[in-house]
Parts: sequence; C-alpha cells; structure tokens
Amino acid sequence: MRFSKTNNLKLAVIGIAVFALAGFAWTGGLAPRVDNTLVGTLGDSGLDREAVSIAAFNETAKVFFSARCANCHPAGDTPTQGDEMTPHTQGVTRGKDGRGVYGMKCTTCHQNENLDGPHLPPGTTKDWHMPPAPHKMPFQGLTAGQLCRNFKDPKQNGGFKTAKEAMEHVHKRDALVMWAWEPGNGRSVPPMSFEQFDAKVKEWVDNGAACPE
Ligand code: HEC
Ligand code: HEC
Repeated sequence: MRFSKTNNLKLAVIGIAVFALAGFAWTGGLAPRVDNTLVGTLGDSGLDREAVSIAAFNETAKVFFSARCANCHPAGDTPTQGDEMTPHTQGVTRGKDGRGVYGMKCTTCHQNENLDGPHLPPGTTKDWHMPPAPHKMPFQGLTAGQLCRNFKDPKQNGGFKTAKEAMEHVHKRDALVMWAWEPGNGRSVPPMSFEQFDAKVKEWVDNGAACPE
C-alpha cells in the first residue's frame, strides 16, 4: 500500500501536533513557579528562569553552609566540628586523598556508624573522609555566588563536567551527604529536609544553574 500525498501531509501534521504537545507538557512540568505579576511583565522569558534559579540556589546554600555539610568542606586542610565549626581536635588534617595522614587516618576513629555517646566520632556506611587535596571542594569561607560558580567549574568541583553532574552526588543520596540528616548524638540537622533540599537543587539546575553575585 502506498501513502498518498495528503496522507503523508496528515501524518506530518499529526506528528507536529504530538511533538508540540509533548513540548508543552515538558515545559509545563518544569515551568518555574513564580509570582503571577512577574509572569505578566516578563512572560516565560529567560529572565524569570534566571531569577527562579538564583532563588533556588540561595535556598540550597543554607544546607551547603550548614555545619553538618561544611565541617567536611572546610576552607583549610583541617576539618571542623560542632555547630560552631571549630577546628577538629588532635591536629587532624586532610592528607593527599582526604583520608588523613599516616597514624591519623579518619577511619581509625570514624567507624561505619555513629558511635553512641557524647563526643564519640560520627560515622556512616561509606568510609569517612573529606575531599582530596587536588580537589578540596571548600564550602566554608565562600559567598553563595562563589560556591555556585565552583559547582559549575570542573577544576573546583572534582572534575564533574556540569553542575547537573556534580549535583548527582546529592541526588544519588551519597552516604556522606545523607549522614547529615542522621548525625547522631543530638547533633543538629540541616535547616530543611533532604527531599526539600534535593528539589531545590533540581530547580536550580533545571532553570539554568544561574548564580547569585
Ligand atoms: C564526612 C565528610 C563529608 C560530609 C559530612 C559531607 N561531605 Fe560532601 N563530599 C565529601 C567528599 C569526600 C567528597 C568528594 C567525593 C567523594 O569522595 O565522595 C564530597 C563531595 C561533595 C559534592 C560534589 C563535589 C562538589 O563540591 O562539587 C557535593 C555537591 C557535596 N559533597 C555536598 C555535600 C552536602 C550537601 C553535604 C551535607 C548534606 C555534604 N556534602 C557533607 C565529604 C563530605
Ligand atoms: C583521633 C580520632 C579521630 C580522627 C583520626 C579523626 N576524627 Fe573526626 N572526629 C573525632 C571525634 C571524636 C569527633 C566528635 C567530636 C564531638 O562530637 O565532640 C569527630 C568529629 C568530626 C567531624 C564533625 C562532625 C560534626 O558535624 O560535628 C568531622 C567533619 C570529622 N570528624 C572529620 C574527620 C576527617 C575528615 C578525618 C580524617 C581526615 C577525621 N575526622 C579524623 C575523632 C577523629
């Protein structure tokens, strides 16, 4: 059987319609939730996506900068501890691979679970360590804008090509990330749930991974 020209045309029209609908559903699903007055003036322009992305990043920064995360992502080579983020006791330092130096390895003290009792070391299923010397990935001592730009820079984010790839570390529920919500011994947790945080990270990425100043 052969298709006539009109049949081909009909198929093409249906194809385009399905494509357009799919596109509509796609953007609908990702559409930023912004205040209607903004939409009125700007329409669905790149500008409000940028604003939504920046606002989402500023929310995520509250978690990145919280003590449970930032203690392992210090400005220098010594991890910090407690909500006050004071330097780790006993002169603990990063070492080349982030696992400490000879005689002072992280996992000598940090086990595969939180040890129960005041001031005993926390732990989780993954071997406890901080980012390695070639990719220090600091969170402390940065502004939200600097942190944001680092996440997009393969030289700063540990070699991940894009912000989205770097954020997979969070989305895939890395054990060291998840520990922050079950830190043991009455330690405080980040200021929002993991699910809220993960959703804000996605909102940041999906709207173009724009950065605050
Ligand atoms: C016990 C130490 C530790 C804690 C606690 C920790 N991290 Fe990390 N983080 C690491 C290490 C180590 C890496 C490097 C990748 C690896 O070896 O797993 C890393 C890498 C990352 C990365 C990817 C690299 C980058 O900077 O672009 C992100 C994002 C990240 N951590 C976010 C968090 C967040 C969010 C929290 C808290 C909810 C957190 N981390 C808590 C040790 C930690
Ligand atoms: C000699 C034992 C010892 C070694 C070695 C050690 N730690 Fe610790 N660490 C502890 C103890 C104990 C605590 C708990 C302190 C407290 O809660 O008062 C702790 C707490 C921490 C915290 C703070 C958790 C929080 O959010 O309050 C981080 C981060 C940390 N260690 C990272 C590391 C890293 C990274 C290494 C290796 C480079 C390491 N530690 C090596 C004993 C050790």
